[in-house]
Amino acid sequence: MNQKPVTAIIVGAGHRALVYSELAKTNPELLKIVGVADPNPVRRKKTMEYFGFSEEMCFSSAEELAGKGKLADAVINGTMDEQHIETAVPLLEAGYDMLLEKPFAVNEKEMRFLVEVAKNNGSKVMICHVLRYTPFYYSIKERVANGEIGDIINIQTTEHVSYHHLSTSYVRGKWANSKKCHTTMLLAKCCHDLDLMMWLMSETKPVQISSFGGKYQFKKENAPEGAGTICMKDCPLVEKCVYSTKRLYIDHPDRWSFYVWDALEHLENPTIEDKIDLMKSDNPYARCIYKCDNDVVDHQSVLVNFESGATGTHNMVGGSAEPRRQIHIIGTKGEIFGNFEESKFTVLKIDPSPEAHNGECSVEVVDLKVSGDMVGAYGGHGGGDERLAEDFVKFIRDEEPSLACTSIFDSVPGHLSVYLADKSREEGGAPQEVLI
Ligand SMILES: NC(=O)c1ccc[n+]([C@@H]2O[C@H](COP(=O)([O-])OP(=O)(O)OC[C@H]3O[C@@H](n4cnc5c(N)ncnc54)[C@H](O)[C@@H]3O)[C@@H](O)[C@H]2O)c1
Repeated sequence: MNQKPVTAIIVGAGHRALVYSELAKTNPELLKIVGVADPNPVRRKKTMEYFGFSEEMCFSSAEELAGKGKLADAVINGTMDEQHIETAVPLLEAGYDMLLEKPFAVNEKEMRFLVEVAKNNGSKVMICHVLRYTPFYYSIKERVANGEIGDIINIQTTEHVSYHHLSTSYVRGKWANSKKCHTTMLLAKCCHDLDLMMWLMSETKPVQISSFGGKYQFKKENAPEGAGTICMKDCPLVEKCVYSTKRLYIDHPDRWSFYVWDALEHLENPTIEDKIDLMKSDNPYARCIYKCDNDVVDHQSVLVNFESGATGTHNMVGGSAEPRRQIHIIGTKGEIFGNFEESKFTVLKIDPSPEAHNGECSVEVVDLKVSGDMVGAYGGHGGGDERLAEDFVKFIRDEEPSLACTSIFDSVPGHLSVYLADKSREEGGAPQEVLI
């Protein structure tokens, strides 16, 4: 059947919305970007020129766009976490369907409100849980859903946030201060992991959660003696400290460039001198890592009790030498364990026959052959970003979406688990009842 592409307007033309919108370039038969809403005139202009629509389809905010009635099938909402309610509600009420970034709300009250708005308007809202679409997690989900390892007894997930990612996003950057960004580190970073846990455990549901965590490393009292306040301006340790902005950003100018060099995006091709000047200014990314206004945790452990009697844990540790996500699921018939960065997992199945491995189990190593560079956010989450955008088109067209498709309703258990884990952490680990 010859169908027209789904038309969409970008709301919040930042890093993430543009990643998903790229589908309009690679598969114009699926998606067409017909407008943009963003208060930033540089981003509006760049988006208009890149996708080739007229100036009449440029709006200065989600609210202004909503006031114009429905001008496309859907919006791709890539505004920041704390703006999702104020931008999504008027657009859903104007009749748009929506691709909405995670976390879709920053607390339980907002989450329940947005779910109600989506329900009352009959809106199709899909949440960007990109990791579900990676070959690694998707294949594990298929195995679990096929019953290969039986009923799950325990699920363990781990996320190590590398020292350069932690320092850029959660100490110097956009998600460092919960009063400014309105999220916690668990919500910003691990709502993916809790979502994955709930998705893999979808035969049951969480009933209780508790959590501990804190800020261990980056505090003023841990600053080395003699440390300055702006690494490249006044710090004698600039060549030595592994967190110095020279070593993290000038020596690696492309890593995290979409955050660190945001303030230079009005320049067509910023030079290394422009970047050095920025690192000598009062830009937040130029600060001494020990002298920022970060108040979010840098490590946190979460314990989940499920209705079926199964248990789960998630451990988030920031400041590791390299990024790593691991999973280990133990079921009544076998186990699955693997490392996301290697895109490889092992399936063990209970098998007491003499020819089995050690006479106890069968062993299957599944290598999905996704190269290391493709796995993280730079590599489009192992192709997950692209597959998610394609699935969104199916979701809007009422075609059969994939196993990974996450409507706003499917996203509730993961988000709620995060809010309650943080509440528990704030209450010294007190268990919280989960009422979905
Ligand atoms: N799925 C993932 O793996 C993943 C990864 C990183 C970030 N995120 C999430 O993606 C979202 C966007 O992050 P980003 O780094 O792309 O943000 P960004 O800051 O680059 O972009 C946000 C844009 O929204 C615009 N904006 C602000 N107010 C607006 C309004 N009222 N109407 C329309 N536009 C408005 C801003 O001008 C900006 O251009 C966040 O919620 C973040 O947590 C998700």
